[in-house]
Amino acid sequence: MKKRMQGRAGMKRVELVLLAFLLAGCGAETKTETARVNLPDQDSAGAQLVMADCTECHGVPQPSAHPAGEWAGVVRRMQNWRTTKGFGPVPEKDEAVLIQYLQEHAKQ
Ligand code: HEC
Repeated sequence: MKKRMQGRAGMKRVELVLLAFLLAGCGAETKTETARVNLPDQDSAGAQLVMADCTECHGVPQPSAHPAGEWAGVVRRMQNWRTTKGFGPVPEKDEAVLIQYLQEHAKQ
């Protein structure tokens, strides 16, 4: 009995490794892009959040893409995309940090 259980757990592990491999394959393009792009103030909480929450669907968005006044609206639209695509919205406290970061480094 114990042996059989171990055997099955072994199978599961192989399946998991395969699944991880497939998922890694899908994300490869995003990962490359992520590695290529530098965000301003890269170690800040805001930059970390952009890398974590804004790269599932496209490359790293640059804060300089919009003037400060537009970012809240853009992030709201992205929150809708997150919901539409089943990611679930970024939590409110993270959203505030994100918007503040984007505004601080926005297009002048
Ligand atoms: C669930 C998928 C998804 C996530 C996550 C996402 N985006 Fe987007 N983003 C899109 C789609 C789809 C478009 C193109 C359509 C559009 O502009 O609404 C886009 C376009 C953009 C654009 C270019 C259009 C413009 O208005 O300048 C920027 C900038 C952008 N996203 C920033 C962000 C930021 C910042 C985050 C993180 C808060 C984010 N995105 C997270 C799906 C996503």
